[in-house]
Amino acid sequence: MQAPNELFARLAEGTRDFLAQARHRMLIGQDWTEAAEGGWLEVVNPADESIIARVPAGGAADVDRAVRAARAAFDDGRWSRLRPSERQRLLLRLADLIERDAQVLAEIESIDNGKAAQIARVVDVGVTVEFFRYMAGWATKIEGSTNEVSVPFMPRESEFFACTKKEPVGVVAAVVPWNFPLLVAAWKLGPALAAGCTVVLKPAEQTPLSALYLGRLIEEAGFPPGVVNIVTGDGPSAGAPLVAHPGIDKVSFTGSTEVGKLIGKVAMDNMTRVTLELGGKSPMIVLDDADPTLAAAGAAQAIFFNHGQVCCAGSRLYVHKKHFDRVVADLAVHADALRIGHGLDPETQLGPLVSREQAERVCGYIDIGRQEGARVAAGGGRADRPGYFVRPTVFTSETDALRIVQEEIFGPVVVAMPYDDIDEVARRANDTPYGLGASIWSNDLSRVHRLIPRLKAGTVWVNCHNVLDAAMPFGGYKLSGFGRDMGRQSLESYLETKSVIMAL
Ligand code: NAI
Ligand code: MG
Repeated sequence: MQAPNELFARLAEGTRDFLAQARHRMLIGQDWTEAAEGGWLEVVNPADESIIARVPAGGAADVDRAVRAARAAFDDGRWSRLRPSERQRLLLRLADLIERDAQVLAEIESIDNGKAAQIARVVDVGVTVEFFRYMAGWATKIEGSTNEVSVPFMPRESEFFACTKKEPVGVVAAVVPWNFPLLVAAWKLGPALAAGCTVVLKPAEQTPLSALYLGRLIEEAGFPPGVVNIVTGDGPSAGAPLVAHPGIDKVSFTGSTEVGKLIGKVAMDNMTRVTLELGGKSPMIVLDDADPTLAAAGAAQAIFFNHGQVCCAGSRLYVHKKHFDRVVADLAVHADALRIGHGLDPETQLGPLVSREQAERVCGYIDIGRQEGARVAAGGGRADRPGYFVRPTVFTSETDALRIVQEEIFGPVVVAMPYDDIDEVARRANDTPYGLGASIWSNDLSRVHRLIPRLKAGTVWVNCHNVLDAAMPFGGYKLSGFGRDMGRQSLESYLETKSVIMAL
């Protein structure tokens, strides 16, 4: 283990330059600005609880300025009426700049969120680059249709030309969480910008830094001012006035189901289009033909990746009773073997959770699990060191009727449960209010195909979990959300359809 000051000494020059700015500014129109009311939010490194920066505590006045800047940029056509090939070119240029500064962004993400920088570089930053490139391509492939119409109430000899046109929906509010700060911002920005929308982005108050760095790259790439605006601030002061602002045409939100419901209701008042990507309690189902060694390794990845702070984390593990003891024993070995440490330490596999609040919430659930009678097979609380570290924890339970089985924990905590037959496990897998992801572990093609349609989940993985791709729509059934991020479906949600009917 290396001391934090040694780790900081090895930061990339760009990261050190960025962090040397003790107070960061936010981007509104072409101005890098402080909050109108002058307040600041502290940004904490969760690995050692030190304050690494301050960002403006944006409020309603800042949000209003940002929405007006985005509105002006949309209405005058500087982005929406730019040639699609120009929008594509700028998005590709942005992807190149993110790739150029991948190490800096990975280090910023690590210091701000806690995750391992090496993983952030490959996953958070690498996938962001690929995602912008994927979405850049859509800018030149937006199309409507020509439609053969009958118009039965008109005289037979009348003729019509009819078509649909796609138009950008307008000004987008993108409200993003702290678990994948850069990547989830990209999930909103990519399709919005490809479609010709302008954006006000509000990063999470816990992790605002990578969005601000991205703002610099957006400027450097040459996006016209006002196309992307970034307002830092917390949920009640900045997020709430943003999503309720009458100048917003669409809200795209990722975060808790609780806030998602609030945003959905507010959006309905203005008929704002809305995409909500919310919580989950995703099951992992190991059938009796599965290889228990592979299943245990898969389960460890499904729940411990990003410290379990993943909306589709495999947090309920259903294992056929034949393999149950073996899979739990192997999973406990994986959990105990994970190297906990500072995100900048190249040895680290598991960093701290994002905040004191999140560590306390997760440990609160671990206590609840014990009180409810679940057995601890690995982990079981805070790691004995400063910072918000929680040990990877494996519970076992015979029953689903526990809060730790029903409620989203959003930390490195899994509950393993045995089952007998496939009808039983299909029913139990669906028995939560959520429906984001699910995985099936089996090589029995016939049973796998029969099980897929029975699972109420936006994504079903087979022999893998947490595998996402730019081309695959991602989102939830039930309380896990509304609409989809990624893929063509996401692009469509930033477009309106205009029907054109012409009498000839
Ligand atoms: P949250 O839903 O409160 O925060 C997510 C984003 O929404 C942040 O940018 C926040 O500032 C903003 N926000 C909060 N209240 C708002 C409001 N009234 N109007 C507009 N924006 C608002 O999530 P939080 O409190 O950070 O985490 C709580 C729980 O939510 C976690 O334990 C986890 O279970 C879940 N969560 C799920 C995520 C996912 O990826 N689906 C991501 C983050 C949290
Ligand atoms: Mg909250």
